[in-house]
Amino acid sequence: MKNTIFVLEENSPKYKQIYEQFKSFIERGDIPPNDLLPSIRQLADSLQVSRNTTLMAYEQLVAEGYIRGEGRKGYFVNELEPILSQDALAFPKKEQTKSEIPLLIDFRPGVVDQTNFPLKIWRRIANRALTLQESFQYGEPFGERCLREQIATYLLQSRGVNTDPNAIIIGSSTQQMLIYLGQILKDDFNSIIVEDPGYGGARESFQFHRFTLETLPVYETGADFSKLEQMTSKIIYVTPSHHCPIGVSMSIQQRQMLIHWANKKQGFIIEDDYDSEFRYTQQPFPALASIDSTRVIYLGNFSKSFLPGIRLSYMVLPQLLLNRYKQQFLHFESTTSLLSQLTMAKFIEEGEWNRHIKRMRLVYKRKMQCLVSELKKHFNKNVSIIGEQSGLYLLVKIHLNYSEEWLIERASVYGVKVYPTSIYFIKNYSDEPIIKLGFSNLTCEEIQLGVKLLKKAWL
Ligand SMILES: Cc1ncc(COP(=O)(O)O)c(C=O)c1O
Repeated sequence: MKNTIFVLEENSPKYKQIYEQFKSFIERGDIPPNDLLPSIRQLADSLQVSRNTTLMAYEQLVAEGYIRGEGRKGYFVNELEPILSQDALAFPKKEQTKSEIPLLIDFRPGVVDQTNFPLKIWRRIANRALTLQESFQYGEPFGERCLREQIATYLLQSRGVNTDPNAIIIGSSTQQMLIYLGQILKDDFNSIIVEDPGYGGARESFQFHRFTLETLPVYETGADFSKLEQMTSKIIYVTPSHHCPIGVSMSIQQRQMLIHWANKKQGFIIEDDYDSEFRYTQQPFPALASIDSTRVIYLGNFSKSFLPGIRLSYMVLPQLLLNRYKQQFLHFESTTSLLSQLTMAKFIEEGEWNRHIKRMRLVYKRKMQCLVSELKKHFNKNVSIIGEQSGLYLLVKIHLNYSEEWLIERASVYGVKVYPTSIYFIKNYSDEPIIKLGFSNLTCEEIQLGVKLLKKAWL
């Protein structure tokens, strides 16, 4: 196929226009089956768009079966079922409904960068783990000793938490661990303080055991502890290093005050240190459990720093709870994969974990900077950016007098998926809508395109 040139309009996404033009050329038979399409580069040059734009259009056509990629040879048109060609000729094109709008950019939080995942290394170590004799049995109920030892070393080096591997319990997820933990706490305690806004997953786990919830308001400036003394609960669940979702960190004064409170009340602090590895402006802040671990239950996981699907989490129990926990769950089998545990233990031991974290910190820092600069460029004073110092997502407070629902809906019309934050709030609602934008698995080009489309959708 030679010189397919068409004019692109300004008011709709270019990727979509290219995709639709080719789709209709193919459906009408204007480009016959097995014809070679222009290369990504040729098409980008002739239409004066980025290669990413043409690549995305081609990828959509590949996904829908209109064309196929044949490696270095390029992209070729597929044979269409006759019925489809007939239909396309016979009926005028109907208006695109919402469900047919292709998703161009998904600012999904809770995913990790796929391109930089150390697949080869993980595969090599996992293959080796499969040859070990112990891989063919159930494993230790509280987690493999080798992984608990590696976690203990990591916690001391990176989070300042000095713990015995015996105090570490390995589980499959934060919620699963909180449910088990709740089982041993509920005899002595019947209510828990949670952050507002805060992580719904933790709230649901506490409600599973019918704990009453009291709320600690958290703002962009930090948590408000002024009412803490008047609360009746003796347990508090917090995300001190990177508040979920606002992203603020607790100051050392607040950390010390909280520890003092737990000691005085003879209660416990549940410290969820879920993504502390990714702090971009300074070194990660030391964990609460590094100040005084007597009354701190420390929770960590590999979901943000490595892979959410690995389902590998851990908690460090203070001595006061450890025996009770072990007695209660002695006859419960481990909830997480033995193979993943053995592989992760070796991965850490061989230094791959530290290399991975170091590399990912740079990768995510670049993406965060890209998202922040694009938002500032396109939205200027219409938005406030929250939480740019750390984490794998940003919050954007929108000063445009639209509701959260409208903003999400409107973005979807332009092929962009963005996420609500209202689900995190209990009663401490924000005066203006706040949208959550995850960037971890997007390239900078995709981030740029996504923000440009959001500008078209919202401004
Ligand atoms: C505050 C918080 N803690 C922990 C997690 C991780 O949960 P899991 O262990 O199920 O991956 C998340 C996930 O988004 C979270 O937001």
